[in-house]
Amino acid sequence: MIKQTLEIAIIDDDEVDRETVCRLLKGQHTCYEAATEQEAYSLLEEHAIDCVLLDYHLPKADTFKLLSSCVDHFIPVIVLTGDERPEVIVKTLQQGAQDYLVKGDVNQTMLNYAIANALEKVSLRKRLDEKNHRLEEKNEQLRKLASDLTLAEQRERHRIAQILHDDLQQQVFGAQIMLRSVQRKLEKSDAANLNGIYEQLERIIRISRELTVDLSPPILKGEGLFETLRWLGDEMYKRYELEVELSQGSNLSIPGESMRIFLFRVIRELLFNVVKHSKTLQAHISLEEKEDELCIKVKDQGAGFDTTRLEPEHQGFEHHGFEHQGFGLYSVKEQLELFGGHFEIDSQIGAGTQVVLKLPGYILL
Ligand SMILES: Nc1ncnc2c1ncn2[C@@H]1O[C@H](COP(=O)(O)OP(=O)(O)OP(=O)(O)O)[C@@H](O)[C@H]1O
Ligand SMILES: [Mg+2]
Repeated sequence: MIKQTLEIAIIDDDEVDRETVCRLLKGQHTCYEAATEQEAYSLLEEHAIDCVLLDYHLPKADTFKLLSSCVDHFIPVIVLTGDERPEVIVKTLQQGAQDYLVKGDVNQTMLNYAIANALEKVSLRKRLDEKNHRLEEKNEQLRKLASDLTLAEQRERHRIAQILHDDLQQQVFGAQIMLRSVQRKLEKSDAANLNGIYEQLERIIRISRELTVDLSPPILKGEGLFETLRWLGDEMYKRYELEVELSQGSNLSIPGESMRIFLFRVIRELLFNVVKHSKTLQAHISLEEKEDELCIKVKDQGAGFDTTRLEPEHQGFEHHGFEHQGFGLYSVKEQLELFGGHFEIDSQIGAGTQVVLKLPGYILL
């Protein structure tokens, strides 16, 4: 609510001009006068000024600095001008003044209207500013939550990987040794019958080793995303014969552990998609820092697909509980947004697929 009686600062080196404005406001508001920059700052410091009427021709003064100091403190400013040079008026309005009045033309109605209007605008700006601030805080909390969740999930994966490695693999290995010793005591033909079980145990060890690495890739401990991706590329080749070509604009390092883990998982999902859906065995990853954004492209020249199928109305899981057509890309999108990023998919049937991940540049700091 706007106060009835306002505290108004009139900042003007010309006494007559100050007096004229003061007279128009008299009886209605409390006026304070300042003739110099110094006096103006003292006024603003000593009183809870509601509105400033500012002569922008104040001699030996940095009027724009004074103006921006008022703007920073949400004090509405109406500029008093002697001439009407549009570029100066435009500049004051761009710098945050709410309005301007031409000295000599001002009457009481105009002045009161301009003040009420300026107060209203600043109060709106303040409310908007507070809302944006609260929104920014919420976003920050979300990013922190996403990061904590990624780390907690990774810790849990690491714990399971350790159980697999230290307990399960050892147990199966022990069973293999026992089997061999039993085989030695058996007739040759009976012993050969048990070879199948030995090979099955061998497969269990191999699967469990792969699972250990999948759950907790040792490379994630380092800082370089490039090295991590090179390792991932090698793994994709060993397991699926997918050749991954890597390129980067500059040497990027991602100091945040949760971000590194997150990007690793996302890119692994995209490479899996190439293996599963593209009908090619080649993919290209490029890393680039562009216009204060980290830009990661995962590209293949394979089968491509119709991206309209990813729109919500085509997504089974949106309508039929868990009966979904694919969760990977949906989950990538959701998580990226939590980390303040977004992604773009470009795909055409027969011409391949390109997924671009974009993340705010501050993750590199
Ligand atoms: N590189 C690609 N080449 C061709 N089609 C793709 C590619 N990536 C994704 N797609 C298409 O987009 C769909 C959605 O991908 P998404 O990763 O969400 O699901 P999915 O891989 O099928 O299953 P999930 O990831 O849940 O195991 C895929 O089913 C596939 O049709
Ligand atoms: Mg997938």
